[in-house]
Amino acid sequence: MDSGNTYWDDRALLEWQVELGADEAIQDAPIDRYALEAAKPKAKPDASAPPPPVQQEPEVDPVAVARVAAKNAADLEQLAAAMQAFEHCEIKRGARSFVFCDGNVDARVMIIGEAPGRDEDRAGKPFVGRAGQLLDRMLDAIQLGRGHEDAAKSVYITNVLPWRPPSNRAPEAAEIAMMLPFLERHIALADPEVIILMGNTPCQALLRKSGITRIRGNWTEVLGKPCLPMFHPAYLLRNTAAKREAWADLLEINARLKT
Ligand code: URA
Repeated sequence: MDSGNTYWDDRALLEWQVELGADEAIQDAPIDRYALEAAKPKAKPDASAPPPPVQQEPEVDPVAVARVAAKNAADLEQLAAAMQAFEHCEIKRGARSFVFCDGNVDARVMIIGEAPGRDEDRAGKPFVGRAGQLLDRMLDAIQLGRGHEDAAKSVYITNVLPWRPPSNRAPEAAEIAMMLPFLERHIALADPEVIILMGNTPCQALLRKSGITRIRGNWTEVLGKPCLPMFHPAYLLRNTAAKREAWADLLEINARLKT
C-alpha cells in the first residue's frame, strides 16, 4: 500500500516510535483495537449475584422540618426567611410571589385567610383582589382598616399558605399540615388579641374543623386567643344573602374589641 510518505517521512516515524519504546516489529498491518472491543460479546449479568445497592434518599418529614424551622424563628423577619427557605411545599414552584402579610403587626386583630389568588400572587400581598376589596369594606364598617397607623384601628392579615395554589385550587391537606407550624409561629410572634378565620381552610388548619356555615359566628380559641370563624369574603361575593351573618359577626368583633 502506498501511504504517500517519502522514505524520510517513514524513517522519521519509525525513529519516533523507537524513541517511545517500540523496538519490535510484530505485524505488517495495524490492528484497530476499538473495532475489536466493540465486536466482543457482552458478558451476561450473573442472575444469581445480589443486585447492586440502590442509593436511597433519606425520607424527609416536611411537617417535622417545618416545626424545627418555625420554632427557630425568633421574630417575623426570621419566620418569613424560614418559610421562603422551606422547599417541601410544591406549590411554591409555580407561584410568582411569597405572600407573607399585610397591615399593622401591632394590631389587636389578626385575620387569617386561605391562600393568595392571582391578584395577590402578582402584588405579593394578601387580600388585594375582589374578595380583599370586600374585606376592606367590611372592616371599614366597624372602623378598622389595614392601612391605619393606629394599632387600635388596624388589622394584621395573613393566609394559611403563602403561595398561590395552581389555578386557585383548594389547598391540599398535606400542604396545610406542613405550613401549619409556620402559621402557629406567626400567630405567636404577632400576638394579636383576637383572631378571625376567613372560611373553611383556616378553620381546618387551626381548629381541625370544617363546615363554616355551622361554625361561623361562634367564638372559640386558637393558641389561647379568642377566635371567630367567619364566611370568606369570596363566598360573600357569590352568596350575597350571607352578608347578613357576616354583618352580625363584624358586630361581634366590634363588641369584643370594646370590652
Ligand atoms: N383569598 C384568601 O383567602 N386570601 C387571599 O390573600 C386572597 C384571597
